[in-house]
Parts: sequence; C-alpha cells; structure tokens
Amino acid sequence: MLEKQLEYIRGVTDFVPEIAVVLGSGLGGLAEEIQTVCTVNYSDIPCFPVSTAPGHCGKFVFGKIENKNVVLMQGRVHLYEGYTPKQVVNPIRLMRKMGAGTLLLTNAAGGINSGFKIGDFMVITDHISSFVPSPLVGKNDDTLGVRFPDMSEVYSKRLSGIINEAAKKQNINIKSGVYLQFRGPNFETPAEIQMAKLLGADAVGMSTAIEAQAARHCGFEVCGISVISNLACGISDKPITSREVTETADRVAPDFKKLIKKAIGSF
Ligand code: HPA
Repeated sequence: MLEKQLEYIRGVTDFVPEIAVVLGSGLGGLAEEIQTVCTVNYSDIPCFPVSTAPGHCGKFVFGKIENKNVVLMQGRVHLYEGYTPKQVVNPIRLMRKMGAGTLLLTNAAGGINSGFKIGDFMVITDHISSFVPSPLVGKNDDTLGVRFPDMSEVYSKRLSGIINEAAKKQNINIKSGVYLQFRGPNFETPAEIQMAKLLGADAVGMSTAIEAQAARHCGFEVCGISVISNLACGISDKPITSREVTETADRVAPDFKKLIKKAIGSF
C-alpha cells in the first residue's frame, strides 16, 4: 500500500523533502509561510485516510521554508475518527518513504501542569501512549524498522534544543513537558486528568504519541511542540469546547509560525 501511495506522489512531483511537519488543530496556517512547489489532497492518494476533524484541511504541501525542503501535513487523522492505529500513522510512514528524515509533530493540548497558561508553547520531552493502542501491533514490516524499537529518546534532545534556542532568539516563552495521549473524542473527566497528573503528564491530547512511535520505528529523528489551547478538565472549572481550542490556536498563530520557521532553519 505504501509503495502504491509513493508511486502516486511520484507521479505528481519528484520533490524530495528533508523535513516533515504535522500541523495540529488550527495550526495549519504555517502553510502560508512556505514557498509552495505543489500540493496533494489526501483524497487523491490511493487508500489514504482523510481528515474529518475541525481545523484539519487534508493535504500535503511541498515546498521551501528557510531554504529547507519541507513537506507539511495540513491536517492529520485521529483514532477518534474511527481509523485504525495503522491508518493513523500511514501518513508518517509515507513521508519517510518520500525521503524525509526529520519530523516535527505539533498539536493543540490541554494544560495540566499548574505552571502552564493558555497560549503557552510546550516542547514535548517525552510521552505516555499507554492509553491508546500501538500502531506497531501486527506483523512487523522489516523494510520500515525492527520488531522491538527502542523508545528511550523518542523526542530528540538535539532537535528540542534547537527549538528552545529558536524560541529564546525570538523572545518567545517556551515550556517543556510530557504529553499524554487519550483516544477521545470526548474531553477527559476531572478524575482522568488527576490520574494523568499523577502519572507525570504535563499536557493531554488526542494525537501525536502514536505518530511519534511509528516515526521512531521507521527511523525519523522526531521532535514535538504542543500549543496549550485550554486548561485540562478540572484544572480550570470552565467546560472545554473545540471552539476554545481553535480560537487559542488562531491567537498564537503568528508566534507559532515565527518559532517553527526559525527552528526549521536550524534543523
Ligand atoms: N484534552 C484532550 N485533547 C485536547 C485538549 C484537552 O483538554 N485540548 C486540545 N486537545
């Protein structure tokens, strides 16, 4: 299936990306910053999962950012849309097959850490994926990676250091912490957030961790940034809405674009 999908992409463009970027809920605006070479709609790729979530557009954008060859995923797919774990990580594996070696994952997340404010950026230092099924279950594809991949440094310290440095240079305040993935689509209960806190999570969301697992399996160097779009349930008394999530993403978009451009330039 991956080979067929790659063949389709190669029929459209021979562009070889070095860096792959997944744009989370409401963060797709980075696509305006790229010198676009071409775009490919997910719906045109054979057997490819198509995003249905709000704030997720559904296309690959190929082009240059800071003189680097980049492929952006404007919109991802999630487990809560009913896709299998394998389908959810299909785009990650395809971008690896296209030639990318560096992966930046972004998302909107609920803040658990009491030091976090709405609108903060958080460099992901590690994740907890134990509440979602692994995308690596089933027969191993040895052409992608090994059966039992190491997960001791999923998020590259080198790339995270570059992101922190890029933030500093632009006077952008940046936090760091552990991301925990729940399946969704419902937001969590206060008890679930207390559990997540107890387990050491600083932020929660419905994506990213399984993409990072698959990405390490197939040999990507990975990094991640969360935008704290809201305080997680029970951390604030206010009910959570997806509108709040996209509104925060829109509000911080200018700084987010600046940060990512600068970081990509130094990757
Ligand atoms: N919980 C889960 N996913 C999220 C949240 C949240 O509070 N905010 C944005 N995505």
